[in-house]
Amino acid sequence: MSDEIQGAAVRCVGLVKNFASKAETLRVLQGVDLELPPASSCSIMGASGSGKSTLLSILGALERFDSGEVTVGGHRLHELQERELPGFRSGVVGFVFQFHYLLKDFTALENVALPAFMAGASRAAAWARADFLLAKVGMAERKDHYPSELSGGERQRAAIARALINNPKVILADEPTGNLDAANAEAVRELMFGLPGLSGAAVILATHDRGMAEAADYRFHLAGGRLCPL
Ligand SMILES: Nc1ncnc2c1ncn2[C@@H]1O[C@H](COP(=O)(O)OP(=O)(O)OP(=O)(O)O)[C@@H](O)[C@H]1O
Ligand SMILES: [Mg+2]
Repeated sequence: MSDEIQGAAVRCVGLVKNFASKAETLRVLQGVDLELPPASSCSIMGASGSGKSTLLSILGALERFDSGEVTVGGHRLHELQERELPGFRSGVVGFVFQFHYLLKDFTALENVALPAFMAGASRAAAWARADFLLAKVGMAERKDHYPSELSGGERQRAAIARALINNPKVILADEPTGNLDAANAEAVRELMFGLPGLSGAAVILATHDRGMAEAADYRFHLAGGRLCPL
């Protein structure tokens, strides 16, 4: 992909995002500034509706923004062309959501390997990396099971392995423990904070869980459309 620059894993300067409807303009992000080094973790807390998911969607190029400069994994999002977006989404960032979104007709191993196939990896390479990652998240014994045969925590661990399959520079996690009981949440929390050391990726977590937020290297609160230190 063109236009790669070195340095921070994520850099936002003056990021502005509005949602306009006929009746009104909703000013969600009003000048977000953020700089995050590689292999670090960052948490974002904030009231419901403050814009956490919107910010993660923008960083993952799922959503466009109105103004500002945003660089993720060395790619300037404000300059990315439409045709470059799918490659960016599958190769530069990895997503973990509150719900796992595993495909029900595929085993854990197949679900994890799939994004690698789609990015052009050989069957053997995709299989080997999926196998390796599932072992890393403690799923070696469960890899041949279908999502319906896995617990909520196991599904989320498989989803985390899937997010890592194409070696992303940044992992975007939107309330990854929001749907789990306390014990599974703790396991997923430990896994999320292990990712910078495991993969070298920077991890950004949107969460309502203060304990999880406080364990991050960089901690923010999103309010009034801006990030402030937590
Ligand atoms: N596609 C959209 N069109 C219009 N408004 C939107 C859209 N997406 C989000 N919004 C609005 O933008 C605001 C921020 O939403 P967002 O989902 O980012 O909040 P959040 O901080 O993630 O909340 P939560 O903690 O409940 O997940 C909300 O008022 C929401 O209704
Ligand atoms: Mg949200």
